[in-house]
Amino acid sequence: MRLIHQVSLALFALVLLGSTAEAQTPAGWEPAKNTPPANWPGPVFEPSFKFPTSIPAEDTQPWKAFDFKTEPNEYMEAVLDYVFEGQDPDSWRVQDNSVRKWYHVPWMVSHGNGREFIHGLTRERSTPAGDLGSNHRRCTQAWGVGFYNPIGGYTLGKVFGDGTSPPDVSEATFLPGTVVAKILFTEAIAQETDIVTGAPEWEVNINARQPVNARSCPRASNPRTRAKLRLFQLDVGVRDTDADEFTGWVFGTFIYDPASTQTNPWRKLRAVGLMWGNDNDLSDADAQNGQMPEESIILYKADLLRDFGRGGRMNGPVDNPVSSCLSCHSTAMFPQRAGMTPRRNDGWDRASCWFRNLNPTEPFGRPPSNTRACGQSTGGLRSLDYSLQLSRALINYSAAQPFLAELNAIPNKLDAPFIDVNRQLNDLTLDDEEPIYDVQR
Ligand code: HEC
Repeated sequence: MRLIHQVSLALFALVLLGSTAEAQTPAGWEPAKNTPPANWPGPVFEPSFKFPTSIPAEDTQPWKAFDFKTEPNEYMEAVLDYVFEGQDPDSWRVQDNSVRKWYHVPWMVSHGNGREFIHGLTRERSTPAGDLGSNHRRCTQAWGVGFYNPIGGYTLGKVFGDGTSPPDVSEATFLPGTVVAKILFTEAIAQETDIVTGAPEWEVNINARQPVNARSCPRASNPRTRAKLRLFQLDVGVRDTDADEFTGWVFGTFIYDPASTQTNPWRKLRAVGLMWGNDNDLSDADAQNGQMPEESIILYKADLLRDFGRGGRMNGPVDNPVSSCLSCHSTAMFPQRAGMTPRRNDGWDRASCWFRNLNPTEPFGRPPSNTRACGQSTGGLRSLDYSLQLSRALINYSAAQPFLAELNAIPNKLDAPFIDVNRQLNDLTLDDEEPIYDVQR
């Protein structure tokens, strides 16, 4: 790690010496993967990268008035109110928030699923046909954008600075009070699922369906085109000291509820549930015998009538069902040496490795194998404190450094080539049947 850091500093110095224009956008800090066409009339995404350089003055933490284990609804509503406070939900220009600014993660542009130019959305796991009900007969894309509150933005600043020096992964530990939210939009229409009836729509620039009526998931390498997406879900992560003996985080999600009595359609979001731990003791067999997780609470299943996460654990309706929110996010590390989920057919003996309650600084480690036990091999790996945007950003950063590619070519220097990790991540993020590779690579 040290070596990488020094080499990369040297490289950056060279780049700086060689550059002439001062106000250039630092590499990886471009707003989106592609630029708007010349006469584009609509809104254009501008990222919020002016990170606080000192710890922001104490912010209110209204959710702290509630116990997430016994008052999960109240806790989630308090977080949701905080996310919406001062926000113009039609634009979500988080830097214009009148109460507190929120911040985006840099280096989320160059991969196949990188930010689109209208709202800064990145492509998420596609939703296989049938997952949103019996009328949902085609695979639909899901796209989302995440942002951190000021105290989270402070940590982003410690990691990324102003973009003129290499990211410092040793700073990737968030302070208590950090909140990160992600809004998620679906390609599905009301005829396919009642869930999005009346939901706010955004025009975005996403992967074209090719051929036009294809039922399969559009590849990330397909050209991007204008399309409308509908609000579907809002995810939150809260760094809460009350969860310290578990993971340190409370992760939860809301889904659009057409029957909500709220008048503002953006506020028709209903809490699905939350989790603060992975219930490592709850095996697949236990769950089949009716045992319930104790570190997840499910509040609402949106008429989808199935478990969203493994063994009844908390997960989103369009997330990978072999996983859970905190399971997938626990793998965030640098370098990203493990896939985000167990393999689809892994039994509990291997899969249980993905359901540990790691503390924020504990790296997931290399995945278990015939010769390697779970959690045994963490040398050279750093935890990214449950942030998968940081993981993706650092993969993109690494892929852009020629010297890292060279290091990768030297056997045993690093355990596995970055390119494999990129592929594995993309495979898992999207559809297992249709692997989508980084177009960049
Ligand atoms: C199978 C993996 C997976 C599962 C399951 C998953 N996520 Fe994520 N999540 C990701 C990835 C990958 C990103 C970053 C990529 C992006 O934003 O484009 C992400 C980003 C986020 C972010 C933005 C902060 C961050 O970590 O980068 C939040 C908040 C979040 N997810 C919450 C949730 C919640 C809540 C759940 C469960 C309801 C959940 N996630 C389930 C993979 C997963």
